[in-house]
Order: sequence, then C-alpha cells, then structure tokens
Amino acid sequence: MSAGPWWQAGQRLAILSALVDEQRGLIDHLEQPERVEHAGRIFWLGRLHGLAVVLTVSRIGKVSAAMTAATLIERFDAGAIVFTGVAGALADQVQVGDVVVAQDFLQHDLDVSPLFPRYEVPAYGRARFVCHEDLSAALRQAAQQALAGEFAQASVHQGLIVSGDRFVSGAGEVGALRQRLQQAGHAALAVEMEGAAVAQVCADHGLPYAAMRTVSDRADDSAHRDFAEFVSQVASRYAQAIVSRLLIGLGDPARHRR
Ligand code: ADE
Repeated sequence: MSAGPWWQAGQRLAILSALVDEQRGLIDHLEQPERVEHAGRIFWLGRLHGLAVVLTVSRIGKVSAAMTAATLIERFDAGAIVFTGVAGALADQVQVGDVVVAQDFLQHDLDVSPLFPRYEVPAYGRARFVCHEDLSAALRQAAQQALAGEFAQASVHQGLIVSGDRFVSGAGEVGALRQRLQQAGHAALAVEMEGAAVAQVCADHGLPYAAMRTVSDRADDSAHRDFAEFVSQVASRYAQAIVSRLLIGLGDPARHRR
C-alpha cells in the first residue's frame, strides 16, 4: 500500500459476516440503524462506536460472497471490508476455538491446469490475494485484546486461508487437500467457503480488506457436528468482541497514519 492515509474519518466500513448468527449482536448495537433491501439481501447502515458502518451477511459460497462484496463497494460505498466467520483447521497448530486472521487467500477448488499453474487465477497471474497489511494488523491486535480476558485459552494465528465451494468434512478429504496445497507450496492454516472471493473483488477495486475466522472444526469426519451451536455460542461472541475492539481502534486516528 502506498504511503498516505488508508482510512479517512467519515469513510464507511463494511462488516461482512458469513452467517446471520454472527451479525445479530452487531445489529443490536447499531446506532441510527437503517435497513435497506437490495438484490434479495439485507444491508444495515448506521454507526458503531462512532464509525459509519454497513453490515451484511455474505451467505455461503464464493459466488454469493463476491456478489455481496461488489454490492457493498458499488452501492454502499464501502471504504474497506472486514469479514468474520468460521473455518475448518488445516494446520496442526490450529485448534478448534482459535482465531485465524488472514494474511492472504487462495481458491483451493480453482484449477485451470494445464493452461495455468494449479490455483492460479487467470488474468491475475497469481493464486494468492494478499489482505491489507495495516487493517489486518489492526484486526489481529483487536483479536488478541478481545480474547485475552474471557477467552484466554484461544490462540490467534495469522497466515494463508483457502476457500472453496465445498464444506470439507472427511479425514481423507482434508488430508488430500493439505497434500495438494503443500505440493504447490501453499501452507494453509484454515479452510472456508468465501474469503478468497471477497479478496479478489477487493483487489479489483483496490479496497482494503481483512478477514478473521474462528476455527469451528478440523474439517474431518466430525466437522458438521455441533456446527450451529458453535457458531451461535462461540464464534458470534468472538466476532462481536473482536469487531468492537477493531472499531474502537480505527476511531483513534493515531492508529492508521499510513
Ligand atoms: N467453515 C467451517 N468449517 C468448514 C469446513 N470444514 N469446510 C469449509 N468451510 C468451513
């Protein structure tokens, strides 16, 4: 990112949640809430901790997420996007209940080989889409601060997250995915279904993007068990606490001079 402020007072921050449950607490705290329906989706405009925000749900899968991100930018004038959600663990050091802040994203189900190297997105000349350094650092710090008290057992990791249109839920499947990625030189921490799509849309628009995922499962045979309960009981509370910290930090101009 070139020098110069990347976040201006008065800009609107988009907070994108993968699932409705995660968004509920944020809407409850929204000041001057305005509900707008567009393209079958609901967008909430208002202020949180003094910052102008737009809240919405991505729905599941890359197409839905890309469509939502493009709408946030083009129709709701988002100045940056922060994405929260849950993910399956891919790396050994990542445990259920930990938080992963994305360094970059890759679509693990994109394969235009042999025309292009596996995972490379044609026309972009790369497989990995990097998140905004300063916004991601702020999100990581917010996660560390938010989890330090009540959720001190959770670790915060930062690294590659991979996305694909598939809920990975089998020991064989997750093993094969890890091996394929490693062979291509991609050591991923977690897998989910939307983040890489939003990263690509934000890259197209030159928009700052950061994402965090609470690890709900190990993408193995028991991945689907207790998923809904984990989202409502754990991940939504993490997301609320972390996003609140982030907004308080972004409201402090000393935090984002570059
Ligand atoms: N989101 C949460 N867990 C996941 C998994 N195992 N696969 C894909 N997306 C997920």
